[in-house]
Amino acid sequence: MQLVLVTCGMPGIGKSTWAEAQKLPIVSPDRERARLGDAADQRLNGAAWHRVRERIEQAVFTGNPPALIVDGTFAGRSDRKSMLRTIGPTARRVLVVFPVDRAAAHRQNAARGRLVPAPVVDRFADKLEESLPRVWTEGWDLVWDVLAGAPWGEQPWTPKLAAHAAACGWPAPPR
Ligand SMILES: Nc1ncnc2c1ncn2[C@@H]1O[C@H](COP(=O)(O)OP(=O)(O)OP(=O)(O)O)[C@@H](O)[C@H]1O
Ligand SMILES: [Mg+2]
Repeated sequence: MQLVLVTCGMPGIGKSTWAEAQKLPIVSPDRERARLGDAADQRLNGAAWHRVRERIEQAVFTGNPPALIVDGTFAGRSDRKSMLRTIGPTARRVLVVFPVDRAAAHRQNAARGRLVPAPVVDRFADKLEESLPRVWTEGWDLVWDVLAGAPWGEQPWTPKLAAHAAACGWPAPPR
C-alpha cells in the first residue's frame, strides 16, 4: 500500500525542514517553482501546482515510489480536499499537521532568506485555526499531529501503516 504524507502548517513553521529529514521523495510547489526558474516567483504558482499534480498522479498510477511527501501549506479545507482528490483512493493518505504557533512561525520566518510577509503568515494561521477543528471529517486515513513523536499518537493504526512506518524508519507502534 502506497503512503502519501501531506504537510499542513504555517509558513516558516518547519514543514520543509521536517520533510527533508524523513529521507523520502518530496513533491512541492516550491521545488517546481525552482525548476521553472525561481522558487520565490509566485507568478509561477499555477504552472508549479500543475506539475505537482502531474507528479502525484504519476506516482499513484505507478505505485512508485512506495512512500512520498507532498510539502505545502494546505491551510484551507478546500486545499486539502483538492489534494485528497488528486491523490485518489488507492494510496493511504496521511495529513502531517504542524502546530499553529504564530510566535515560532514569525521568528523562524524572519530568520531565513526567503521571507514571507508577516500578514500573509497570519492569514494562513487564521485559516488553519478556522479549518483544523473539522479536519477529521475530510477523509484522511490518518491525521498526524507532528508534535506527537510517532504518527500513530492516540489514533487508529493499521498493520499496513505499521509496515510503512517500519520502511520509513519510524519507531514501532506500541502494542
Ligand atoms: N524545529 C525548528 N526549530 C527551529 N528552527 C526551525 C525548525 N524547523 C525549521 N526551522 C527553521 O525555520 C525556517 C523555516 O523552516 P522551513 O523552511 O522548514 O519552513 P516551512 O514550514 O517549510 O515554510 P514555508 O511554508 O514558507 O515553505 C528555516 O530557516 C529552518 O531552518
Ligand atoms: Mg517549505
